[in-house]
Amino acid sequence: MGRVATANLKEGMTLAEDLKDSAGRFVLPRGAALTAKQIRMLKIWGIFSAEIEGSDDERIEEERRASEAIRRQAEAFLETLFPAPRRGHPVMAELFRVCSGRLAARMESGFRPDPISFESGSLDTLRRHRPGLTPDGLIRGEIRLASFPDIYFKIRELLETPYASAVHLAEVVGKDPSLSARLLRLVNSSFYGFPQPIESIPRAIAIIGTTELSNLALAASTMSVFRDVPSEYVSMRPFWEHAVACGVFSRLLVPSREVRQEERFFLAGLFHDLGRLVLYRRLPREMTGALRLSRRLRIPLHEAERDLFGFDHAALGRTLLASWRIPDPIPDLVGFHHNFAETTAPDGAARLHVADILSIALQIGTSGSLFVPPLERGAWESLGLEVEALQGIITQGERQIAEIVNVFFGGEGTS
Ligand SMILES: [Fe+2]
Ligand SMILES: [Fe+2]
Repeated sequence: MGRVATANLKEGMTLAEDLKDSAGRFVLPRGAALTAKQIRMLKIWGIFSAEIEGSDDERIEEERRASEAIRRQAEAFLETLFPAPRRGHPVMAELFRVCSGRLAARMESGFRPDPISFESGSLDTLRRHRPGLTPDGLIRGEIRLASFPDIYFKIRELLETPYASAVHLAEVVGKDPSLSARLLRLVNSSFYGFPQPIESIPRAIAIIGTTELSNLALAASTMSVFRDVPSEYVSMRPFWEHAVACGVFSRLLVPSREVRQEERFFLAGLFHDLGRLVLYRRLPREMTGALRLSRRLRIPLHEAERDLFGFDHAALGRTLLASWRIPDPIPDLVGFHHNFAETTAPDGAARLHVADILSIALQIGTSGSLFVPPLERGAWESLGLEVEALQGIITQGERQIAEIVNVFFGGEGTS
């Protein structure tokens, strides 16, 4: 038993004695487990402390010191992945603060991050180049749109037909139970945030629009055609978790001068790292070499790819999406997500670039990059957002990401 200051009271603590106010009036009985509301009321009533079972301020102070030590451990761990020179920009410093706070909270409940394994192989061996590779050469004969499921083409065809209505589309979608179920779960998630439940496919299509529906069908089809990437090189679920995270954050990073959360950014985010999948399929050994080189030099993966292949997965993804005739600006956005300054649509590319950094720093899924990439100059500024907006975007984003991942992968394992 011990006296605990009201400021240190926590929900669930048990009163060791009847609690009375300063005038001696009875407030709560001995044995009561405190609720958050009661703790707030104690403050309002001017009750400054309470006798709590098995606790005292000294122990609370000890706990505070222990949490402080865990916080320092979390920061030390993240320092390696997110070194100080990359935190010079205020938004990167804020991101580091948010990430270390989250890691510390997980560590307090027993989680311990895996130790980082750095590569120590000889640079000469690791830097063995693969000459003569080009994005065009790798894409040729690679995943063709023709291998997409029929439903995707039926939707596209219908969208190109004059007078095609949401009812026609609903008929086509209704024939694919898996797509119908995903569509309904997605429109009822916090991603759209509609206040009323949407229970029918025609209603869902009327609300989200026909283009959105075709995007969803495209996303679902893409996930299915890349199922055969060797799992010893890349696990598909974490790959798509990272992609969904990037899509959600791109959509949420709405520049202050714009009002709409444009859906094409979600799709661009979802597809931004597709080039990595092509590399894992076509050059799995060389891609493993790029991963090792990035760990050896502590550089982001795309830099190691450029070093070894002469181009990176972003350029390859752009070539693939263009070959699928995915409309502009999505291929360009994807192509420049690691060097936004070189694109002709810099604002949009900045959203994808920042969203990728957020997803990597928060370690949602796997990006292939152990290290948080540097923020390109002017990328954050071009969004016109306050640094203070970051925490809210992350909190909102994490909820949407969890729901969307569940829509696509809920209960499905890793395929
Ligand atoms: Fe990337
Ligand atoms: Fe990425």
